[in-house]
Amino acid sequence: MLHSNLAEALAYPHGIDRYIELVRPLQVKGEMRAEVTGVHHQTAKSVTLTLAPSENWRGLRAGQFVGVSVVIDGVRETRPYSPAGSEHERNGTLELTVSTHPEGKVSRHLRDQAQPGMIVGLTAPQGQFVLPDPRPERVLLISGGSGITPVMAMLRTLCDEGYSGEIGFLNYARSPQLALYSGELAQLARRHHSLHVARGFTQGRAQGLKGRFGRKHLRAAGVDHRTAATYVCGPPTLIESVRALWAADGLKQPAVETFTAPVQRFETVAATGAVHFLASERTATNTGLPLLEQAEDAGLRPNHGCRMGICNTCATRKTEGTVRNIITGALSSACDEQIRLCVCVPVGDVALDL
Ligand SMILES: Cc1cc2nc3c(=O)[nH]c(=O)nc-3n(C[C@H](O)[C@H](O)[C@H](O)COP(=O)(O)OP(=O)(O)OC[C@H]3O[C@@H](n4cnc5c(N)ncnc54)[C@H](O)[C@@H]3O)c2cc1C
Ligand code: FES
Repeated sequence: MLHSNLAEALAYPHGIDRYIELVRPLQVKGEMRAEVTGVHHQTAKSVTLTLAPSENWRGLRAGQFVGVSVVIDGVRETRPYSPAGSEHERNGTLELTVSTHPEGKVSRHLRDQAQPGMIVGLTAPQGQFVLPDPRPERVLLISGGSGITPVMAMLRTLCDEGYSGEIGFLNYARSPQLALYSGELAQLARRHHSLHVARGFTQGRAQGLKGRFGRKHLRAAGVDHRTAATYVCGPPTLIESVRALWAADGLKQPAVETFTAPVQRFETVAATGAVHFLASERTATNTGLPLLEQAEDAGLRPNHGCRMGICNTCATRKTEGTVRNIITGALSSACDEQIRLCVCVPVGDVALDL
């Protein structure tokens, strides 16, 4: 009834969502949302949220991520998060485990402010960091820090499916106090004989694997890495070490995902031209940095999420000029095209609808 043409006509000119928003914020039809129904703190630096999505939510595959939006000081901020729950979660809820960054806006807001009843925005799920169908014979899941979330989703999904192949789960945290999902991982390992859990602590003298990823740690994960479908999520240093070991063994590279952009250097000295921010009527000298940073330096606040070309939150229309994609190196000169500001640097004059 609320979404009928009649209701829409009666609500003209504002649209029915404007009124539904006031009484039932989860039922607006133009946007996907979720209500926080549970909040708990596994560690001092993280928060785990249970989210009940609105009716228009269609589920996701374990390992995918969603954009989560919150309003902070009147500004809507969106960040990608990989739900950690099984894709077969019976009541359709999502679980997010958010680790805080010392100066992070959204992660600290969620840790400190999230309460049952809070409404957040959700985007459709994205990402190819997912288990194949049919499932492989053995699976190796390697993670570090907050990167545990997508592989936890894969592990829980496999356990829910009664998967009988071998699973190795190798996870790194700084210390046992900062380790996520410790109790559940121990329980799953007791229940599933083909699951081997190995935990490494990079600081202190806690029991477990010491130091950083290497061949010895791989053996502790209990599955043959040469024949296992391998998924790695963690900081760029962990991913580089895994890639190097796979290359040394002549193996096909594993599937990887990172939550933090690798540090990049940019050619700023030779930059030429100007960046025209048309909607804001501002012009800045091209500094050679990615356009997201140039826009922020010019005092604008473009929407952004991952800052590394994954989530599409910063997509903006370029009306003129050439940009270079810093990941692929490709140049693009088309007029009226959507570009991702976080991974495009201008080559000469560029005009943006921003
Ligand atoms: C695919 C994907 C999935 C993810 N899943 C998870 C997950 O499950 N759990 C999780 O905890 N995190 C996840 N993340 C990370 C998450 O999206 C956020 O990046 C994280 O929560 C930090 O956001 P924030 O708003 O708190 O920090 P921000 O305010 O965005 O800041 C993050 C860091 O960047 C620095 N920074 C901010 N602005 C600038 C700037 N202009 N220039 C340079 N540096 C700057 C800050 O100092 C800080 O150290 C995921 C990321 C991706 C890409
Ligand atoms: S901020 Fe995610 S693609 Fe640019």
